[in-house]
Amino acid sequence: MKLAFLGAGYVGLVSGTCFASQGNNVTLVDIDENKINSLREGIIPIHEPGLKELVLENTREGRLKFTTNIKEAVQGSDIIFIAVGTPKNEHGEANLEFIHKAAKGIAENIDQDNKIVVCKSTVPPGTSSSVEKIITEITDKRVFVASNPEFLAEGRAVEDFLKPDRIVIGSEDNFAIEKLKELHSPFARRDLNKIIIMRRESSELTKYSANAMLAAKISLINEIASLADVCGADITEVREGIGSDSRIGKAFLFPGPGFGGSCFPKDVSALAGFGSLSRIKPFVLNSILKRNEAQKEVPYQKLHKLLGDESGKTIAIFGLAFKANTDDVRESSSVYLARKLISLGAKLRVHDPKAMGNFKGELKGVDITYTNSIYEAAEGANAIVIMTEWSKFRSPDFKKIFDLMQEPKVVVDARNLWDPKKIREIGFKYDSIGRP
Ligand code: UGA
Repeated sequence: MKLAFLGAGYVGLVSGTCFASQGNNVTLVDIDENKINSLREGIIPIHEPGLKELVLENTREGRLKFTTNIKEAVQGSDIIFIAVGTPKNEHGEANLEFIHKAAKGIAENIDQDNKIVVCKSTVPPGTSSSVEKIITEITDKRVFVASNPEFLAEGRAVEDFLKPDRIVIGSEDNFAIEKLKELHSPFARRDLNKIIIMRRESSELTKYSANAMLAAKISLINEIASLADVCGADITEVREGIGSDSRIGKAFLFPGPGFGGSCFPKDVSALAGFGSLSRIKPFVLNSILKRNEAQKEVPYQKLHKLLGDESGKTIAIFGLAFKANTDDVRESSSVYLARKLISLGAKLRVHDPKAMGNFKGELKGVDITYTNSIYEAAEGANAIVIMTEWSKFRSPDFKKIFDLMQEPKVVVDARNLWDPKKIREIGFKYDSIGRP
């Protein structure tokens, strides 16, 4: 099939490339000329395992193209995906400016009947209807508008796309449903029931609800970890105890420094905003967010308890990305912690395998020492805070780290990566999240 993606950001780039990998002809459009030129040269703006190889292969074989020309993309495609950003506006709701612009751009360039426009961006219920309204006000060509949210997690997006748990299609029109089913069938070969057809509004709400449900699990386990801290329980044992109940499940029950990234904070807030606008009080959604804000303080509070006054102390941060296997620092708890420690007069030495460039961009002009390894970061540090669960942080040479540090040699492990007993035996003053 011939596909166009409006927006060559995270979602557009991964989805478009994966569709091209199945033999479709895909054109990715973006207004950012620099981004398009870089992509044409094979420079991928994000760190995503497996993506670069797929982009290069599909570009070389002529199935994947990049352009700034929306007309060419719309007229040359049967299915047009809207994959532009939906940032938070000042009250937390989703800002649909780019979505509406994309809808207008499609309508102004459409030249044939029966094209399908698909809202792939994460949007509040009712947005696909408003997209349809914008398009039909401008053009008299017959257009079908469907919703098809993405469920990709950063760091494993290609794998998630090629082997999805489910594919949600929101449409009540047979023509669009059949075409979209056909397009997605290579990803559901073993089980066609993976493709779930529903109303557009249900599809839009499903996307937000999935993220809200996962974020709720994290906020709840973080709160329970705080309770474990005061009563001598071990959250790892509690997690196993509750996760083995198949109704609860084991996933997304890892306590940490609070969830970050471009999705959970924004989407839970957008859903709460949608609720408020619709006069539904979002009690639970607001609590998820409140707990998360409080959780961002937890690593600092633990550090302060063991280290005392931070002013003039050297503190190493291991991990800057909002989670492992990504270079993304958006809403990362490391950004919060670094800002706080700097404001209190601490000197920071930081290391992350992939996210140091983005972190530097986020904390522009702030005096921070960026290092090439956790050992270099630990040199002369009075304390270490582990913020991201990178595999390579799990079993380092603990003795070497200990010898490189200065007293009082504090470690706050906000991801529970290290074994408390072993680490204290070496001599570190150690604390983690919800473990005695
Ligand atoms: C999330 C969802 O997992 C995807 O399904 C969804 O498609 C995506 O948002 C999106 O809406 O685009 P992502 O933000 O990439 O994906 O990352 P997650 O792996 O979900 O992690 C989010 C945050 O929760 C991270 O800060 C992570 O460290 C934290 N987390 C996750 C925990 O603190 N504990 C856990 O047990 C799991």
